[in-house]
Parts: sequence; C-alpha cells; structure tokens
Amino acid sequence: MMKNKVTIPKLKLKKQRGQKITMLTAYDYLTARLLDEAGIDILLVGDSLGMVLLGYENTLPVTMDEMLHHTKAVAKAASHALVVGDMPFMSFHTSISDTIHNAGRFIKEAGATAVKLEWITDAAQKTKALVDTGIPVMGHIGLTPQLVHQMGGFKVQGREERQAERLVDEAGRMQDAGAFAIVLEGMPAQVASNITQALTIPTIGIGAGIHCDGQVLVTTDLLGQNPGKAPKFVKEYTNLQKQILSAVGEFKHEVEAGEFPSKEYWYE
Ligand code: KIV
Repeated sequence: MMKNKVTIPKLKLKKQRGQKITMLTAYDYLTARLLDEAGIDILLVGDSLGMVLLGYENTLPVTMDEMLHHTKAVAKAASHALVVGDMPFMSFHTSISDTIHNAGRFIKEAGATAVKLEWITDAAQKTKALVDTGIPVMGHIGLTPQLVHQMGGFKVQGREERQAERLVDEAGRMQDAGAFAIVLEGMPAQVASNITQALTIPTIGIGAGIHCDGQVLVTTDLLGQNPGKAPKFVKEYTNLQKQILSAVGEFKHEVEAGEFPSKEYWYE
C-alpha cells in the first residue's frame, strides 16, 4: 500500500481542514492509472458506465457482473486513490441480505474499498446494515439517475422548499446510518451548501455548486468525449473527441494513400 493512500479518515480530515476532495469516474485500467497518477482522491466506478461505455439509454440495465468487471480493472490501477463501486439498479432494492451479498462482492471480488448507494426509501436502513457488516458506504441524493422514470427525466431536484427540506433530511439520515460521504447531484447550490454545513461527513457535488466539500465529474465529460450536448454543470477541460477524430482520420488517410508505414516503422 502506498504511504499516501487515501483513506476514509483522511477524507473526513480534509473536510475538517477545509481541503477540497476530488473524485472522478473511472471504468478501465488505463484511465484509472492516469487519474491515480494525477492525485485524484476517489475513483468512482459509476454505473454511468452503462451510458458512457456500453451505449445504454440510462443506467437501469447495468448488471452486477458489468460493474464488477470494470471495478476490478480500476482497483488494479489505484495505488493512491480510494476506489468506490457503484451499486447498480436492483442490486440493493430487495432484501438486506441481497444488499450485503452484492456490496460484499465489490469488496471481495473486485477490490473496491467502498460502495455507493443512490437514495431509495430504505437507503439509510441498508446503509446501516452494510456499515455494521464492515462495508463503507457513500450515499447519493438529489438527481439520482436510477429514479429517472419517477423523476420524469434527469431533472434538477430540490428547487421547491419542501423538496429541499426532504434532501436535507435524507442527507442527515445517511450520515446517521454511518455513510462516510455523500454525493449531492443536480440541486441548487444553496441547498447543497445547507446540507454541507449541516453534515460532519464530506459532501461531493456534481451540478450542486461550489460549496460542497468536493467535486465529481464523469471523466469522459471533462475530457470532451461526450458525443451529445453536455449538461450545464460539465466543464470540458479538453476535447479528446476532436483529437481522436483528427488522429484516426490521419491514420486512415496515410494508409489509403500508401504513406503508412514508412521505412522507420518497419523491420529490415
Ligand atoms: O454513476 C456515476 O457516474 C455517478 C456520478 C455521476 C456521481 O453516480
């Protein structure tokens, strides 16, 4: 284990010291190695991989097997970052024993340190059961993509006072249940700020403003690999899509023109 390995107590300390936490999604070994080398605190193997890597319309079809496959690759690459596996739809929606069984697979088979649960009515109860078993849990409230049908699309949550109060309550219940951190997704910055101040565990925002204890983005969004229109909260730090298209176009042109491989690229 690396000396500067990120741990759950270190993440809590960061909040106490006012130091921001960085989290990015990772789905494969190659990318995870780079994010780890760059010093990102948490690598989240998000179920967003269903949409980003596998071309699903939403995250609902993602299976445990798909999640474990990608989590294994990411965990192998992470020598510094803490790896969190995202519990896919229906992996924690039935019994507590199914929830413990599935979460345990992320830790035992895939090498994750913790799991993330999107909010459902009994999320706090399931969190407590996991924490009691020794499995660290990250919560996730607000715009929770697994509730896409109930929300009627990917919509910002907590704009109305009653909804905002409900989010504060959910966050408190996750903390009381033993969650070590919580993702706040798609909510007004003021609501996220109120939650962040009310909690002793770190909040990690996505589309939730600047006042969270940390920030997370889907890595392919920040690298400009999103084929459609990116949501408002995404900042594209580069545009890999353009760079890849240009490099691949050049390769195609050179092969078709009989220019590649030139002498320096073949064996005598
Ligand atoms: O699945 C995912 O990538 C996520 C993050 C956007 C928080 O849940």
